[in-house]
Amino acid sequence: MHSERLTYRPVALADLDAFHSLVEDEHIRRYMMDGNVFPPSWSAGHIRQSQELFDRIGVGLWLAHDKRSGELVGFCGFLVLPEVHDQPELVYALRERFTGAGLATEMATASITEARSRNALGEILASVDGVNRASLRVLEKVGFERVGARPGAFGDMLLLCLRPSSSSRARAAEPSVPS
Ligand SMILES: CC(C)(COP(=O)(O)OP(=O)(O)OC[C@H]1O[C@@H](n2cnc3c(N)ncnc32)[C@H](O)[C@@H]1OP(=O)(O)O)[C@@H](O)C(=O)NCCC(=O)NCCS
Repeated sequence: MHSERLTYRPVALADLDAFHSLVEDEHIRRYMMDGNVFPPSWSAGHIRQSQELFDRIGVGLWLAHDKRSGELVGFCGFLVLPEVHDQPELVYALRERFTGAGLATEMATASITEARSRNALGEILASVDGVNRASLRVLEKVGFERVGARPGAFGDMLLLCLRPSSSSRARAAEPSVPS
């Protein structure tokens, strides 16, 4: 799968070191993991869960690399966060030096486009700490609406939903190709 500036491939156990380096990254874990540092076994568990999700519904987590340099930019896709709800939700995370250039929006759009092309999900869910303004802006840019809130580690955690009819706003990604 690819988008304008990025290529994506499903995260595999062979990518454990690369994926775990992102999970450990200070910028990424600040809100996404509530600041926690998790062991490699946590990352391995999420890789396995992603593989199960790909097998079951055709989407999961992808590693995203810069098309031109080949550098690992971050990850995105769909993940079950049992502490939030039992449905897969949209996630995206980049190393800090890649932020501020629209790449999270590109990753979110590519993930949604892929899910829609595979009829993987109806409503797409997401959650974000209210203080994570940049991430909230990304979700709103691609068409998510706020549907609720609950107490989180940094004040309110907002729950958002992208309805099937909203998918037309996810236009920035190029048509996907087999990964
Ligand atoms: C949050 C994160 C995804 C943003 O990535 P990014 O590539 O900079 O995002 P984009 O450039 O696509 O879009 C960010 C938008 O938020 C805006 N923004 C940035 N900081 C902001 C702030 N403090 N307040 C309000 N808006 C802000 C930007 O201007 C941009 O909007 P615009 O296109 O209308 O100008 C990135 O910093 C990250 O990976 N953080 C760690 C992991 C994480 O928190 N993931 C989200 C949880 S799933």
